[in-house]
Amino acid sequence: MERILVIGANGQIGSELVDALTAQHGAENVIAADIGPRSGFGVKRYEPIDVLDRKGVAHIVETYHVTQVYQLAALLSVTGEQAPLKAWDLNMNGLLNILEIARERGQAGKPLRVFWPSSIAAFGPNTPRVATPQTTVMDPTTIYGISKLAGERLCEYYFSKFGVDVRSIRYPGIISYKSPPGGGTTDYAIAIFHAAQRGQRYSCFLGPETGLPMIYMPDAIRATIELMDAPAAKVKVRSSYNVAGLSFTPRELAQQITRYLPDFEIVYAPDSRQAIADSWPQSLDDSIAAADWSWQARIGLDDLVRDMLANIKVPLELLNRAA
Ligand code: SER
Repeated sequence: MERILVIGANGQIGSELVDALTAQHGAENVIAADIGPRSGFGVKRYEPIDVLDRKGVAHIVETYHVTQVYQLAALLSVTGEQAPLKAWDLNMNGLLNILEIARERGQAGKPLRVFWPSSIAAFGPNTPRVATPQTTVMDPTTIYGISKLAGERLCEYYFSKFGVDVRSIRYPGIISYKSPPGGGTTDYAIAIFHAAQRGQRYSCFLGPETGLPMIYMPDAIRATIELMDAPAAKVKVRSSYNVAGLSFTPRELAQQITRYLPDFEIVYAPDSRQAIADSWPQSLDDSIAAADWSWQARIGLDDLVRDMLANIKVPLELLNRAA
């Protein structure tokens, strides 16, 4: 029986992962944790904790006999640039705390499997941008990307030196309707739906031809759980796996939305986020994930757009927060 701790449970990935893990393992066996009070309903166990409080997290792991930790607490690319030291501290020391707890528990004969998200932000301007390979040049320019690349090296180090069973995915931009945009460069592809649904013109902070790798949330959650459920021998990459969903530009996304909402309008006003997007891949080669643990994306652009438009019902206070 698995006992699963999700840190960052109130965030974009965390909130949906908790639901999926609860369906799979039962509410008794999923402990949601985040720095503030619980957001959302249907969670049986909730622990308010700061991932930087190593002793506090270790205490939760011990108390609940946790066997798997998902460490999702982080600042993303745009918010990270506004507070670089805070982003570095949270992104690095949050991961290091979990890896240390896993190392200690492994030594005590209580193994802890760890999931930690990396990102396309770990790549940089000298990375091949089309069908970016699993192993290639990585020269990230944002503090977020730098923390992700360093984190990948830490994951591999803790696996090879201490045998910690840590697993990771380099997520593309994740598109979902349950939480508001959360400070990422790829989040234009969420904000655009909020504007479209409100009947507003969308002013896009990236130019029309800015192709980026993206993934729809159900595929992202499935990738995450499939990787965590794979037999350890199949997980041959211990830094982080390229996982592709689909790739599109703002112009292509807007065109698809106007198929369903013909009055929808987009204008382009690129700002400092354009430089971040220009340093990231346009598409990813995920053939290593496919070979190692049979990863395959299922959701394409038309399905994504139809599902987003059908489901996006955003509470007013979230819309205000996202504006
Ligand atoms: N979605 C993230 C961002 O844009 C990338 O991992 O910051």
